[in-house]
Amino acid sequence: MITVAALQTLPEFGKTEHNLKGIAQLFPQKADLVVLPELFNTGYQFLEKKELFDLAEAEDGPTIQFLQKLAIEHQAAIVAGLPLRKGDEVTNSAILVDASGLRARYDKLHLFYRENELFLKGNVAPPVIDLGFAKIGLMICFDWIFPEVSRSLALRGADIIAHPANLVLPFCQDAMITRSLENHLFTITANRVGSENRWKETLSFTGKSQISSWNGNRLVQAGSSQEMLITAMIEPMEAREKKINTYNDLFAMRHKDPILCD
Ligand code: ACM
Repeated sequence: MITVAALQTLPEFGKTEHNLKGIAQLFPQKADLVVLPELFNTGYQFLEKKELFDLAEAEDGPTIQFLQKLAIEHQAAIVAGLPLRKGDEVTNSAILVDASGLRARYDKLHLFYRENELFLKGNVAPPVIDLGFAKIGLMICFDWIFPEVSRSLALRGADIIAHPANLVLPFCQDAMITRSLENHLFTITANRVGSENRWKETLSFTGKSQISSWNGNRLVQAGSSQEMLITAMIEPMEAREKKINTYNDLFAMRHKDPILCD
């Protein structure tokens, strides 16, 4: 069994140092995998590209260095969402860091709403990282509405999907139960709470971070307004069995032929 966790946070826009301190305070003493929200270090509602570029960091910047220090201190793997520079542009990214350093970077493929005006869209499939005790797939927030993202991670061997989020719609938490069920794997959604009204409208974030099992059980869920840590003990190897009875293997019986696919 391993311990997995999600941190539900309330970042203050633009106050990276303050937001990192908050993570250090909430961080679990002992966990194998800890997932933080999307854009956890900066906040969400950027006004324009220059502001975003100024707050974004390089892969050797202070935020990833801070996460690696935490990973060493707690012997944990950490998945976190943050804006990362790519040339003159910025991607909305998720990274996996452990005691050995930066293991993977994923640039969000499906940008939500005004993110399309601000960020450079990713163009590479999300990674699956083998940590030995489990294979971890990465996706970010709005990727939830495209079932092919979680399917692709599952087909490439993910036991757990780590899902940093800044959710404003109320549907994702239930949809992730389905993503778990249809792929027979664990999902960890780390969302934020609070609201931002820096631009023309107020965005309110829905919290309810959750950890879901391969059988659709919601193992634990946070509330909708407080910062908090949620944890669960899971056996990742349970996700490797895709047979749900003698007749039905969820992966073997998929139609990849013209009946369903063109
Ligand atoms: C989202 O993708 N941040 C909703």
